[in-house]
Amino acid sequence: MTERMLKDDPNWWRQAAIYQIYPRSFKDSDGDGLGDIRGITSEVDYLSSLNLDAVWLSPFYPSALADGGYDVADYRNVDPRLGTLEDFDEMVAALHAVGIRVFVDIVPNHSSNLHVWFQEALASEPGSPARDRYIFRDGLGENGELPPSDWPSHFAPSAWTRTTNPDGTPGQWYLHLFAPEQPDFNWDNPEVQEDFLTTLRFWSDRGVDGFRVDVAHALKKDLSEPFRSKPEFIDFANPLSGDDVLFDRNEVHDIYRQWRKIFDEYAPPRVAVAEAWVRAERRVLYARPDELGQAFNFDLLLADFDAQEFKRIITDNIDLAKTQGSSSTWVLSNHDRVRHVTKYGLPAGYDLKEWLLSHGTNLSVDHEKGLARARAATMLMLALPGSCYLYQGEELGLFEVADIPADQLQDPIWERNHHTDKGRDGCRVPLPWQAEGTSFGFSSGQAHLPQPASFAEFAVDVQSGKGDSTLEMYRNALKLRRELQTSENYSWIETGNPDVLHFTRDNGWQSVTNFGATSVPLPQGHIVLASAGHVDGVLPANTTIWLKSLEGK
Ligand code: NOJ
Repeated sequence: MTERMLKDDPNWWRQAAIYQIYPRSFKDSDGDGLGDIRGITSEVDYLSSLNLDAVWLSPFYPSALADGGYDVADYRNVDPRLGTLEDFDEMVAALHAVGIRVFVDIVPNHSSNLHVWFQEALASEPGSPARDRYIFRDGLGENGELPPSDWPSHFAPSAWTRTTNPDGTPGQWYLHLFAPEQPDFNWDNPEVQEDFLTTLRFWSDRGVDGFRVDVAHALKKDLSEPFRSKPEFIDFANPLSGDDVLFDRNEVHDIYRQWRKIFDEYAPPRVAVAEAWVRAERRVLYARPDELGQAFNFDLLLADFDAQEFKRIITDNIDLAKTQGSSSTWVLSNHDRVRHVTKYGLPAGYDLKEWLLSHGTNLSVDHEKGLARARAATMLMLALPGSCYLYQGEELGLFEVADIPADQLQDPIWERNHHTDKGRDGCRVPLPWQAEGTSFGFSSGQAHLPQPASFAEFAVDVQSGKGDSTLEMYRNALKLRRELQTSENYSWIETGNPDVLHFTRDNGWQSVTNFGATSVPLPQGHIVLASAGHVDGVLPANTTIWLKSLEGK
């Protein structure tokens, strides 16, 4: 095991490599088929071999798993199926010992319906202080039989669910922007605000270094009545004025300014990244130094494999982040989206949702092309200034598992959309650690989501030490990146070919990506540092190469 000190630098997060662990699918230590905290600790050497700066854990808190753990029943504990707080402390210590920092996921927009506060609210009278921690309202219509507004839920259909009174009669309605098991908090309530400060301190005191803030843009709503109409949620369509009824309201920033004060009580200051589905101009506001510091930039994750689209996204986001004193973030895959290997292997213009539904009946994916493009995009991303968020399994080149049998799907999206949207389970399938054995070494029991037979080829033990494997490409590129980057500077080099992107970083380090369908000549006067594919005198299609100029410029 390589001992590596934690970087003693308050700006460590500005150009970090952060690896997202989806705990239930990373590694199981006790054979129940569900990944757990001790499983993570048992793989600290593996994480260390990836040359990461931090890991981010998706929720591991007590939860009924109505939404993969994003329905939190207790914010200051570990789900007993995943371990204990002592296990958590051991994991943090083991990660810190190899120089890896830890982010946890904070879910402030909503709790689980099993949270004691929500249970108390249900048992309390309308208008009571217990109900005021959430958003309860009387229904419309003669007998309150209609929801209080036309707001939809992200998981369809309505954002309102009606309660039943203790005597069995229909009661008030409560708001949930996601599943009914995820009631939204009322962020105008001081008790709610205070409780999250307690939670931030609780984890910071345990040595947690950073927080990923779930749906950071939704906490404050315009609750003046009658409610304004919003029959549809369209990403990136909220007004730039910050006056939407539900999302990205200007007042939400007051919350993060308060959080920053807590972060700054610690040394080094705790850090945070906002998940905010808002337009880039508004997204960077969450990343201001007196707020969360960083915000996820999902533009590459949403983009096609297209040179000019990548170039525009890169240029705009680096410039925008700078305007607020932050650095950009980059993401190609996460637990909510079809894995990028699969996305890049689909025929151009194909709708991912449709493909998932029709999988096996009318369309196949070109996995070879998808993997080549995914590797190229990853190497390009790792050469950019800013922080890269990687999702577990992408270092193995894993693809989306599209054929999970319907009766084993777990994502609430499937049921709530009447089986017209398969949801996100396909990117959450447990990792293959070994080519042989039960659950490919994930667990001594049956994995909680079925792993396809072809996962064997992608197993960690198959790829480890194999020079051209995706795993070794990630390890090597992450190590080089750490050694090579000394500033946040970059500049484009004109290639004269719209399909080729070339930029230079520090001390002569350069990255060239060929997005086109045919090989292109390699720039002269350079030595090759690394490449995403086989390079022999020319740069093949769908490949990135890292070079160092012989003059060191
Ligand atoms: C965003 C998370 O990434 C997603 O997985 C979750 O379903 C929603 N927020 C609701 O918490």
